[in-house]
Amino acid sequence: MCGIVGYTGPRQAYPIILKGLKRLEYRGYDSTGIALLNSGLKIFKKKGKVTDLESTLLGQELHGNIGIGHTRWATHGEPNDVNAHPHRSASGKLAMIHNGIIENFLQLKKDLEKNGYSFKSETDTEVLLNFIEEIRIKNKCNLEEAVRVALNRVVGAYVILLIDEDDPETIIAARKGSPLVIGIGKNEHFLGSDASPMLEYTREVVYVNDYELVIVKPNELILKNLENETITPFVQKLDIELAAIEKNGYDYFMLKEIHEQPKTIYDCLRGRLDAENGTITMAGVELNIEQLKNAPRLIIVACGTSWHAGLIAEYIFEELCRIPVEVEYASEFRYRNPVINRGDVIIAISQSGETADTLVAIEKAKEKGAFIFGVVNVVGSSIARASHAGAYTHAGPEIGVASTKAFTAQLAVLTMVALKIAKEKNTISDERFHQLLQELNEIPAKVSKILEYTEKIEALAKNLKNAQNFLYLGRGYNFPVALEGALKLKEISYIHAEGYPAAEMKHGPIALVDNSLPVVFVATKDENIEKVMSNMHEIKARKGKVISIITENDNLTASICDEFLSVPPSDEIVAPMLSVVPLQLLAYYIGIEKGCDVDKPRNLAKSVTVE
Ligand code: G6P
Repeated sequence: MCGIVGYTGPRQAYPIILKGLKRLEYRGYDSTGIALLNSGLKIFKKKGKVTDLESTLLGQELHGNIGIGHTRWATHGEPNDVNAHPHRSASGKLAMIHNGIIENFLQLKKDLEKNGYSFKSETDTEVLLNFIEEIRIKNKCNLEEAVRVALNRVVGAYVILLIDEDDPETIIAARKGSPLVIGIGKNEHFLGSDASPMLEYTREVVYVNDYELVIVKPNELILKNLENETITPFVQKLDIELAAIEKNGYDYFMLKEIHEQPKTIYDCLRGRLDAENGTITMAGVELNIEQLKNAPRLIIVACGTSWHAGLIAEYIFEELCRIPVEVEYASEFRYRNPVINRGDVIIAISQSGETADTLVAIEKAKEKGAFIFGVVNVVGSSIARASHAGAYTHAGPEIGVASTKAFTAQLAVLTMVALKIAKEKNTISDERFHQLLQELNEIPAKVSKILEYTEKIEALAKNLKNAQNFLYLGRGYNFPVALEGALKLKEISYIHAEGYPAAEMKHGPIALVDNSLPVVFVATKDENIEKVMSNMHEIKARKGKVISIITENDNLTASICDEFLSVPPSDEIVAPMLSVVPLQLLAYYIGIEKGCDVDKPRNLAKSVTVE
């Protein structure tokens, strides 16, 4: 959470930082701020999105070859101009931005107050900044040393970037628990929460690790640990194209990403799935096949949409591999004392690869001897690096806060992993294996077909936009899809929506049903369909409005529904990759109808790096 950007070099820093912040807005957009050094330290900050700050600065002279910028997801202190970063130290000389939480900030604040410090904002960041400044003054040391001493005494997570009026070429940065990338240009350096702010300027990057301190000047990059030992930076080449992080003519990233799914699922299968010859190639699985196939138990840990992918994976792994599976919210798993036995395999699912709870959950499981298999989208991310093995989802950068293409890519990867283990374990017949390979292979074309008929969904969205509540129901593989459909709607249109197993609906949610409640059934044809049809009748009998995702030409189910959207027929194991697409679009168009900023829904952030 929170996006950070820094630049030092021969160019004007402001336009680079501004553009970088726009790209990092998926990380938070409660307020925006920029500090520039140009014969003195200047700080510009404002509540709201990056464009709000940009418009207040129009026409101003914003010079400086060094600067730092921040887009905030508020933790300590409400979003307002004062709590916005960068913060200025008591002496006025230092400016700092921060992503993370300093857990012992109250104690530090009390100590500083005793020493005469007062604070303008409610943030933990201003406390840490003044703590650093106090150490610098007391210890008569340089800023780098003061940062090191301070960080050895703080509890919590951080990425910080600091500039000093008296050292107008240097940015000092440090990381623990949140991502930080350095871009190496010609006589210039860039810093960012991810590589997107630097893509136009360099392909050479260094991913900073936890407990590392960075000192950058235009011509110098020094990396140290908190014990003051120098570390050789590991320079990597970026292979993301600029087009991948731009809207390419779509109004919103979310719509672009929904429409990219035929390609992203294809990219995910490409080079792995060979339906003709009946093979799946996945190095991460092959090299660890003994570990995976002999696992007495699989524990899936994830958050949000990735957790929903985990629920579907539970059904797939149990059915195909006959291995017991548990699916855990990472945030719950990490704070209890779970039983992890020798041989248990943890599957960590994460789009960003940076979700703090998922990361800590796998670190804890590792300590207890578990083997970690990561299913991650962002290459080189913290969860990918913390896993023993894994498979990337290859969905490309996902920028819309509501996850869409990452979800379907996760399902494609998890299905392949399950199929591969099942084949090795002999828990699947050859015929079923080949059939499912073929089914997977056909998914990209079937998703394209769904995307050809968006008008009907747009029209439905117009009719439904005024509903106050929604219920989403499904059975079997369709139950987690119902959860995901409800989550999408909540996230981007702010309409309350609940997902439930269709049968469980009778144990509570049915009390909500009246003629104002749209009930969305995920009702693709499988062995449960007749039971689901009975549930539809139960809703209709209470005057609820039934809207369903059904299989093409399933006229019987269609005849019960007030409205339906159809998807091509498929095996139930792969059906979620199809049935979720109309639900993504429905949420998108309802959000648009309601005038919401679907890419940046209020209060949310794409990458949740605080606990
Ligand atoms: C946030 C995002 C969701 C995402 C979840 C887990 O809540 O808004 O879209 O599903 O985090 O993120 P991860 O990157 O671990 O999949």
